[in-house]
Amino acid sequence: MTGNGVLGVAVVGAGYWGPNLIRNFLASAEWNLVAVCDLDTERAAQVVGGRADVTVTAVLDEVLARDDVQAVAIATPARTHRHIAVAALRAGKHVLVEKPLADSVAAGRELVELAETEGLVLMTDHTYCYTPVVQRIAELVRDGSLGDIFFVDSVRINLGLVQPDIDVFWDLAPHDLSVLDYILPGGLRPEGVAAQGADPIGAGRSCVGYLTLPLTSGAMAHVHVNWLSPTKIRQMVIGGSTRTLVWDDLNPQQRLSVYDRGVDLVQQSVDRIDRRTASISYRLGDTWAPALTEVEPLGLMVAELASAIREGRPPRTDGAAGLRVLSVLEAAATSLRARGALVDVVPTDRPELELVR
Ligand SMILES: NC(=O)c1ccc[n+]([C@@H]2O[C@H](COP(=O)([O-])OP(=O)(O)OC[C@H]3O[C@@H](n4cnc5c(N)ncnc54)[C@H](O)[C@@H]3O)[C@@H](O)[C@H]2O)c1
Repeated sequence: MTGNGVLGVAVVGAGYWGPNLIRNFLASAEWNLVAVCDLDTERAAQVVGGRADVTVTAVLDEVLARDDVQAVAIATPARTHRHIAVAALRAGKHVLVEKPLADSVAAGRELVELAETEGLVLMTDHTYCYTPVVQRIAELVRDGSLGDIFFVDSVRINLGLVQPDIDVFWDLAPHDLSVLDYILPGGLRPEGVAAQGADPIGAGRSCVGYLTLPLTSGAMAHVHVNWLSPTKIRQMVIGGSTRTLVWDDLNPQQRLSVYDRGVDLVQQSVDRIDRRTASISYRLGDTWAPALTEVEPLGLMVAELASAIREGRPPRTDGAAGLRVLSVLEAAATSLRARGALVDVVPTDRPELELVR
């Protein structure tokens, strides 16, 4: 950290997503972008755009040896996260890792435990959790506005880039799962996962995917991810006993709608042998749209990383959150191999890795 409290950061990976991190670190008064490391130095130099104060290199060790680097942000493909993050943590750097935290639960757990042992911050970039709309959804869930959650239905489909090394679940579902982890009381702890995938174009991996997640208390979440849809839909419906939220991310005028409508179970009678007869009544109330600010979520994300480092606390989307998402992705892969059977999700939490909110 420099005398004025500004933290030094190096970004590793300047491909598609890395430039977004670079732009936000450069725009933040809390961060000094010291270096950009990419195997493709030409690409990195292009992204840095001739700034003399930012070092461009392909050699990670060069970055890790620097005293003016307090944190390393990793935006390389998921299969490389573990190796780079372990090296950075061993060099005493705080680490931000792009979603998904790693390419397996074992690798993710290693990172979480190493960060803990070294007393360093490990953060997962679950970008959507820093959007005003998800912040508002989380508030409405936490303050009880929805009542009990009955169901969540999430759809993330468009004509997407068919990835060469990962299926549509690993590419897109981390977004939905990280939002579920953030908004559900107690985080993402489904009772199991059932995954169905289709590869109608012969790409060698699922291009269309459906995840079913029974939640505790009888609720159910469903996630549909798809690279082959000519229409783009980014929608999540969160149905509660009191209210239902509809988040339509492609509608900036009304990204979030709150439906004061629901279903009540009306108990009519109990007979002599204690048999209950119940009927359903429907409540029809107003629909309204909460006012939301327009801010760049990655700006809030890099600010949260700086605060977590300064305050010595886990960030809002810490390594443990990344690990919970990974455990669902890995269970989904097992379910796919078992032709969609419901499989258990390996619990990732130890008491010291519990959610910090
Ligand atoms: N948060 C989000 O919304 C979001 C969106 C897109 C991608 N991502 C994540 O960002 C990460 C990167 O994805 P991308 O689409 O930018 O990939 P990409 O392939 O476009 O870029 C990766 C870059 O990393 C470099 N690289 C690879 N291995 C390296 C190494 N060992 N050392 C240094 N550089 C190395 C490559 O040269 C390339 O420039 C992935 O984890 C992805 O899931 C996150």
